[in-house]
Amino acid sequence: MKDRMAELVELLNEYARHYYVLDNPVVSDKEYDALYDELSELEKRENRVLADSPTRRVGGGVLKGFKKYAHKGRLFSLDKCRSEDELLKWIEKINSAFGAARYTAEYKLDGLTVNLFYKDGLLETAATRGDGITGEDVTAQITTVKTVPLSIPYKGECEIQGEVIMRKSALRAYNEKNPEDLLKNERNAAAGAVRNLDPKVTASRNLDVVVYGAGYTGEGARPFDTQTQIIDFLKRNGFRTPDYFEMTDDPQAVVGLVREIEAARDGLDYLIDGAVIKTDDLDLRGRLGYTEKFPRFAVAYKFDALETSTVLKRVEWQVSRTGKLNPLAVLEPAELNGATVSRATLSNLSEIKRKDIRINSRVFIRRSNDVIPEITGVAEHFADSVEVSPPDKCPSCGGMLKFDAVFIYCVNTSCRGVIISRIAHYASRGAADIAGLSERTVETLYDKLNVRTSADLYRLKIEDLTPLDGFRDKRAENIVSAVEASKNIELADFIYALGVENVGKKTARELAANFGTLERIKKASEAEIAALNDFGGVTAASVRGFFNDADNLKIIDELLSLGVCPKDFAVKQKSGGIFSGKTVVLTGALSGLKRAEAKAMIEAAGGETADSVTAKTNLVIAGEDAGSKLEKARKAGIEIIGEDEFKRMIKENQ
Ligand code: IVH
Repeated sequence: MKDRMAELVELLNEYARHYYVLDNPVVSDKEYDALYDELSELEKRENRVLADSPTRRVGGGVLKGFKKYAHKGRLFSLDKCRSEDELLKWIEKINSAFGAARYTAEYKLDGLTVNLFYKDGLLETAATRGDGITGEDVTAQITTVKTVPLSIPYKGECEIQGEVIMRKSALRAYNEKNPEDLLKNERNAAAGAVRNLDPKVTASRNLDVVVYGAGYTGEGARPFDTQTQIIDFLKRNGFRTPDYFEMTDDPQAVVGLVREIEAARDGLDYLIDGAVIKTDDLDLRGRLGYTEKFPRFAVAYKFDALETSTVLKRVEWQVSRTGKLNPLAVLEPAELNGATVSRATLSNLSEIKRKDIRINSRVFIRRSNDVIPEITGVAEHFADSVEVSPPDKCPSCGGMLKFDAVFIYCVNTSCRGVIISRIAHYASRGAADIAGLSERTVETLYDKLNVRTSADLYRLKIEDLTPLDGFRDKRAENIVSAVEASKNIELADFIYALGVENVGKKTARELAANFGTLERIKKASEAEIAALNDFGGVTAASVRGFFNDADNLKIIDELLSLGVCPKDFAVKQKSGGIFSGKTVVLTGALSGLKRAEAKAMIEAAGGETADSVTAKTNLVIAGEDAGSKLEKARKAGIEIIGEDEFKRMIKENQ
């Protein structure tokens, strides 16, 4: 049997080969780091290091097909610390040996290290780190990166270190343009692009290089004495430097800078995986020197991973309020940013196929803004990996399914699952907000009390509920009073509660704000709805379709007659609006506005709109090429304004 050390070395080397050489990681950084740390500990404890241990080298090997470049100054990687305590100890060690020092803090960019060699003011060579001593010459690839100056004012020889990154926005844009070549992760996308023998591929990825260091500076006097001066030097020479650069000589304040960087992390357009703390003074750096592998003058404070990988065990299909079946990934439990995750979202079957996600494969999961993380791609397939197959019947009612290009629907209008999720949605937070009506409770009400619509909730009496299992007096009372309280509801919440397909909280609010009353929303034409911000044709059609449906209208009428009273949206509908009491006619073409949008704006500002100029008309808004209506208004002496003036009035009134 192999001992643990040999096992770890073999595993890490295999993972590293996938990661560094093939740019095709099979585990997340977090898992790799954990095994690496375990190996380092073991090597320390047993005081031996195997010949092929990854701890002997700082990076991976050089790929065939690239020329080699011998770095003039060795490229080190950084020692890590993971807690405030470790960081303070690191600072204390330096301060007690050399006196209180000044420390700088920068983002630790998560990309691919690049070493840029300039001579006579021209970019001579760009190289990857390789093993820190020799790297791969990627000059042709890096030349395509627009943030790397091809010439600089400084004429001496120098090597500049930085990180090649792909911005999140660049990755999104790339994926939108190249749906057949989806990139999973910004770091791997940047690394893959630099290590590609075709510089056109590199160019297409829209990479960035951010530089933070200048090492070798040839013969003669060093042009800087501190990290601050290095950053200034780099800026002066036209480079991009880390967006965050702060300095302090107070050890506690260093911790504060790290926390500040951590807080900024989510909002950045690129990945950072920590903060780098460096002593500012370069002479002190010289005195501190290096260990076997790391400089003693800098340390990386690593943050928790926001991404990890785990095995997809199965896909469950959940029927939603609209009948659409949503896939839900059931995962081998994994730690992600401090929580155990066992479920993740998957959008739909074509997305699953496009990303080639299979059951029993290792997949990447990433924390998103939602509570539930998303699967971003595949890390590795195994022999027992199998494709995700679509369901052949509704998982709730066993009924027939309808497949369109992207989605799968249960077509049974009386499907138990659909009805339950519709009612649970009505009762949920942000909708009618009926406390105590979880999906579970709604199931009980469906099964035992024949509750079939949201209106039925308002017919429930305490004495109906008390006989049910688990419904003590208090619980029954609470539910009935929560139902009662929900009668007083904001129009926007009511619209959202109705569960119109494609209408979320934001769009519901917009409908309420622009049309003001339920009656107006019910009557709005598809074009009028489509003209609102955030509404496309699809959403407009589903709103119109919903209010054309006799069953839906019947439920709404029932809700109203049972006492549900959506409050008209009063904010923009105020009588003091700029067009209050005025009849406004639109004529000609408006350049930046759709006709229906302009109408909605006028109505929201208290005005009425009409199609023709009559004695009642108070104001005409004239766009391009306005014809006879404008003429008529002029003759009648009616006030006329142009599009710009109209927009200005609306803006000032908001
Ligand atoms: S300084 C001798 N500063 O993190 C000190 N490194 O393990 C050299 N990195 O591969 C590193 N952002 O490429 C430094 N602001 C930053 C950095 C940074 C990212 C990378 C670096 C290296 C790794 C350290």
